[in-house]
Amino acid sequence: MKLLVTGGAGFIGSNFVRQVLAQHPGDEIVNLDKLTYAGNLENLADLKDNPRHTFVRGDVASSRDVSRVFRAHAFDAVVNFAAESHVDRSLHMGPREFIRTNILGTQLLLDAARKRGVRRFLQVSTDEVYGSLGPEGQFTEQTPLQPNNPYAATKAGADCLVRAAGHSHGLDIVITRCSNNFGPFQFPEKLIPLMIAKALANERLPVYGDGLHVRDWIYVLDHCAGIDVALRQGAAGEVYNIGAGYDVPNLQIVKRILALLDKPESLIEYVKDRPGHDRRYAMDSAKLQRTLGWRPAHPFDDALRATVDWYVQNRAWWERVRSGEYRKAYDTLYGWRDRKAP
Ligand code: NAD
Ligand code: TYD
Repeated sequence: MKLLVTGGAGFIGSNFVRQVLAQHPGDEIVNLDKLTYAGNLENLADLKDNPRHTFVRGDVASSRDVSRVFRAHAFDAVVNFAAESHVDRSLHMGPREFIRTNILGTQLLLDAARKRGVRRFLQVSTDEVYGSLGPEGQFTEQTPLQPNNPYAATKAGADCLVRAAGHSHGLDIVITRCSNNFGPFQFPEKLIPLMIAKALANERLPVYGDGLHVRDWIYVLDHCAGIDVALRQGAAGEVYNIGAGYDVPNLQIVKRILALLDKPESLIEYVKDRPGHDRRYAMDSAKLQRTLGWRPAHPFDDALRATVDWYVQNRAWWERVRSGEYRKAYDTLYGWRDRKAP
């Protein structure tokens, strides 16, 4: 299968690209990524000589970049990871780039996929489109979309456009919605890698509000496995929730990280809450489990320990990506060239 993966230089996309190339020896991937602050070719350094992986630097919200890549390749499927992905940025820096990439970019990809007869379009979405839960219950695929922050709103908008492309034009679409991911190569702005980085530097760990907001955590490779099975075996037009059923308050995660690093809980600092902060997420992934046989394979404690170890061992990586240095250096360091389609 020949795949267009967008956003494949980011956290989840790079893990997905590596996993697909390892597990499907017949597959080829063209990886279209703009390399924003969150996209980093260092995440793909081990793949630079892999003939089944072609990197193209480009913007999903540019019709020129999108049509160029679709003209140069005949894709069987598109897996759309490309997004502005951080809630706090969408709140504090404004939603403009989120609207551009997450909504306009998705529509341009849908149009190109339809025009070129792509067999399947998989949209990588999030549990945040459902809004917030009360003290009981879980999100199912039937839960109404009630996004509460600009990031979530743009992801919900994209989901609606993907659904509409299936309904109006008969494009074969699948949407996956996953809970909070963690693992190697996550940009140190999201809770887990940020807390690890701060603890290693003996800095204060900023916990929003009372720290009792609940997120449902999943190891990134389990998410990638869920996307892969939905891509290959999911039914056209369906939505699949992906979650590992490990929903706990943020404070518990932060304390666990401190314990793994042998750092004192006195490093925790309660700070002003995020505006409109969703109180609780919990995912019901029974549909994916029942219909496609997916199961999370990485118990939370083992996966968190492995993630903390990875950040300890790869301090140079997160210090560089955080400072933006890699962007100046990636070409000379790794000999990458933007392999743009003609
Ligand atoms: P990320 O921010 O680490 O990576 C996003 C990637 O998209 C980067 O490589 C970036 O360069 C690229 N990108 C951004 N704008 C682009 C544009 N205009 N054109 C081309 N590429 C562009 O994000 P992530 O955490 O890996 O998330 C990937 C996808 O998964 C997103 O769609 C996100 O909504 C979804 N998701 C994330 C989580 C999570 O916990 N991180 C959970 C559920 C769903
Ligand atoms: P985050 O990793 O930003 O993911 P999301 O907002 O998509 O769930 O945040 C996870 C949780 O951690 C969320 O409830 C906000 C909280 N949080 C903090 O308490 N402090 C922080 O510095 C960050 C980044 C997040």
